[in-house]
Amino acid sequence: MKFSVLTLFPNQVSGFLHESIIGRAMEKGVIELQTINIRDFAGNRYGKVDDTLFGGGTGMLMQCEPVYQAFSSLYDATKESKPHCVFMSPKGSVLDQAKAKDLSKYEHVVILCGHYEGIDQRVLDEIVDEDLSIGDYVLTGGEVAACVVIDCVSRMIDGVLPNSEAYEEESHMNGYLEAPQYTKPNVWHDQAVPEVMLSGNHAKIKEWKRIHGLYDTWKRRPDLLQKMELSAEDWQSLLAIDAEKHEMNKETSIDEN
Ligand SMILES: C[S@@+](CC[C@H](N)C(=O)[O-])C[C@H]1O[C@@H](n2cnc3c(N)ncnc32)[C@H](O)[C@@H]1O
Repeated sequence: MKFSVLTLFPNQVSGFLHESIIGRAMEKGVIELQTINIRDFAGNRYGKVDDTLFGGGTGMLMQCEPVYQAFSSLYDATKESKPHCVFMSPKGSVLDQAKAKDLSKYEHVVILCGHYEGIDQRVLDEIVDEDLSIGDYVLTGGEVAACVVIDCVSRMIDGVLPNSEAYEEESHMNGYLEAPQYTKPNVWHDQAVPEVMLSGNHAKIKEWKRIHGLYDTWKRRPDLLQKMELSAEDWQSLLAIDAEKHEMNKETSIDEN
C-alpha cells in the first residue's frame, strides 16, 4: 500500500514513520511512504504558501494553488483516476478501527496535512474525498494526525505484523477491549498470572480472554458495550468477576490496615 503525505513539514512525518515496525515494513516494501513538500509548489521565490484570512481573524491560511499543484503532481490525470484523498482536520469524522480497516483496502491514499489556520476551503472541495480527525481537540498541524492514521492502517496490511492474529484479537477489532495480558515471571510482587493462562487449554484461555476483555470494556468503556448484545450467561460471568474483584480488594485493604 502506498501513502503520499502532502505537508509543509515532511521530516516530521518521515522521521516518525521510518522507525520500528512501520519502518521495517517500508524496508520490506510492504508499505510505501512518499512525502511531498507543499512549499515546493509555492510558485514564488520566497516559498510563501499562506496568506491572511478574508473576513478577518488571527493567523494565516494555506492557499489553494500550492496545495492543488502538490496534489496534481501525484498522478497523471490523463491516464489514472484521482487517488483517494484524506484531509486531516478536527472537523472530520473521528478515526476508529473500522475506518482504518476501510482505508487499508485502498492501494494509494493521499493524506493532506493542514497547518496554521488550515487550508482554503475551495481546494479542499476540489480534491478531498473525506475529512478525518484523530480526536476532539486541535493540533498545530496535521502531521502527527497523518502519522497516527498511517500507523494504524499499516498494521492491517499483510506482511506488516507477523500474522493477522496479531491485530485481530486486539482492542477495538471486535468492538470491545483486549483482556489483560501477562508474560514471565509467573509471579511478580506476589501477584500470580491467572492459572488458566498456564493450563495449556486453548479453549478455556480463549473464553477467559473474551470474558475478561468484555469485563474491561464494561468498566472502562461502557459506551462500547452498549453497542453489543451480551447473553444472560455473559452478564452472569461479568458480575461474578466483579464480585471476585471486590472481595480481593477488601482482603487487600484489610491486610494493609
Ligand atoms: C490549528 S489546526 C486548524 C484548526 C482549524 N482552524 C479549525 O478550527 O478547525 C491546523 C491543522 O492541524 C490539523 N489538525 C488539527 N487538529 C486535528 C485533529 N484533531 N485531527 C486531525 N487533524 C488535526 C489539520 O490539518 C488542521 O488544518
